[in-house]
Amino acid sequence: MSIRNMIRHQARALAVCGGFIITAGVGAGCATEDPQNDEDLSFSSTEQDITATGDALPGISAADFADAKTLFSNVDESDEGLGPIFNEAGCAVCHSLGATGGAGVQIERRFGRVSNGVFNSLANEGGSLRQLFALEPFTALNGTRCNITKESEPADATVHNVGRLTTPLFGAGLIEALPDSAITVNAQNQASGVRGTIVRSTILLPSAREPGAIGPTRVGRFGWKAGISTLAQFAADAYLNEMGVTTQHCIGGRSVLAFANESKPNGRAVPPGCDDLVERDHINGIPDETDEVVGTCASGQTELQDDVDGFVKFMTFLAPAQRVPTDARILQDGGRLFTQVGCAQCHLLRDYVTPSSPRNGVPGNFSFRPRSDFLVHDIGTGDGIGNDGDSVATTNRIRTAPLWGLHLRNKFLHDGSETTIEGAIRRHGGQATNSRTAFNNLTQGQRDTILAAMRSD
Ligand code: HEC
Ligand code: HEC
Repeated sequence: MSIRNMIRHQARALAVCGGFIITAGVGAGCATEDPQNDEDLSFSSTEQDITATGDALPGISAADFADAKTLFSNVDESDEGLGPIFNEAGCAVCHSLGATGGAGVQIERRFGRVSNGVFNSLANEGGSLRQLFALEPFTALNGTRCNITKESEPADATVHNVGRLTTPLFGAGLIEALPDSAITVNAQNQASGVRGTIVRSTILLPSAREPGAIGPTRVGRFGWKAGISTLAQFAADAYLNEMGVTTQHCIGGRSVLAFANESKPNGRAVPPGCDDLVERDHINGIPDETDEVVGTCASGQTELQDDVDGFVKFMTFLAPAQRVPTDARILQDGGRLFTQVGCAQCHLLRDYVTPSSPRNGVPGNFSFRPRSDFLVHDIGTGDGIGNDGDSVATTNRIRTAPLWGLHLRNKFLHDGSETTIEGAIRRHGGQATNSRTAFNNLTQGQRDTILAAMRSD
């Protein structure tokens, strides 16, 4: 085991804040009722026993983690289901900075249309994600000559060429393990001017390791818009939308087809055979283009579903990134100033703690500090992309970016449009205007202390 003594920090005393029970280290909304102790104002971490970025959390054997990482690192070919359109050929091609599973330099592209104040993803024209690549011309198993056209932005799009930077996955299993209440309480604690919005996301794919219900909502926490709540769903979605690999899932004997329909370049289905591993007839209502099916699910899982399970296992047990050893004084002073100017209202410095026995198998009572409230805010950087039917206000909200692992990154903000931390701070407006102004009003020395503390994260 490469990580020792990780669960030293048990959940600290509970405090009651605005009628909601939270773990010690309170949000700004009730600071006067329960003053924060020094550690909660510091940029210190509670996961400091991690020996190397890319390590596994306790709870998985080294061999199982290595197998899961191999699946995550696999680069697919077209005969493994890649395409017909895709953004990259493997998860780890994009998620790579610092260690396998990290952030990336890849920036995806999205488009959409707003009419009468409502967002339309132009799904029938291939939106909102515009896959950047298509398979090279090839001859399908059935002899068809396949020449797939790359997606382009449709003429009726009004929201153009929006970028989405690859996010890091370190610590994702800890975030997944949080109960909804750990996130909703953050909105309760925030003053109205900075209060974030809770995203509720429909579960289309529960994890096969803990077959839960399909259809109910859970508080979203993953992705730049916090639009998804489970790693299984994000993984199947990414397999389909980033790589073009469709999956039929068998969960508790049920066939789940939410990710079984192949992407159509700009809405046009590719000719039969050009998107498939094998020729097959329609089976039990499963779309023909699904890369692999088992029909009724009576006989177990599909092989590609096993891939998704592997991605999920890898992400679930991928530990938070190692922090950079930094002078305790800088962490203290930086944290205090960060709190003073209001950054910590959204980028919480305090601990989250996993439940005593999390269903996804990560360690219980584990404290961690991702520096986010996992709520979405409009800080003036909004990109106008959302789900069908969203108001423009909704499309402009973005999840408070977690700041852990910042030192491993080279691009910032949802679209990767900034290359320095200072640049990202300068872009804060909207709900973060007061905080940015207070930051600007600090002395150069004070700003440098905050930045030095942030670079430790
Ligand atoms: C082309 C690059 C690319 C590939 C390939 C890719 N991703 Fe991602 N990933 C992204 C981007 C970009 C985001 C942010 C998406 C967003 O929120 O709009 C992301 C976000 C995620 C998240 C959410 C993390 C968070 O910060 O909340 C998960 C989980 C994830 N990817 C898993 C996977 C898995 C599993 C695979 C392989 C099946 C994969 N990704 C393949 C680019 C990629
Ligand atoms: C009202 C909530 C809020 C406040 C206050 C706030 N932020 Fe943010 N911060 C966000 C959101 C939302 C994003 C994501 C914006 C985007 O990507 O377009 C973000 C992004 C960032 C990023 C970029 C991280 C990344 O992954 O690209 C940094 C750095 C950052 N904030 C630092 C700060 C600092 C320093 C302060 C105080 C001066 C601050 N923030 C105040 C909500 C807030």
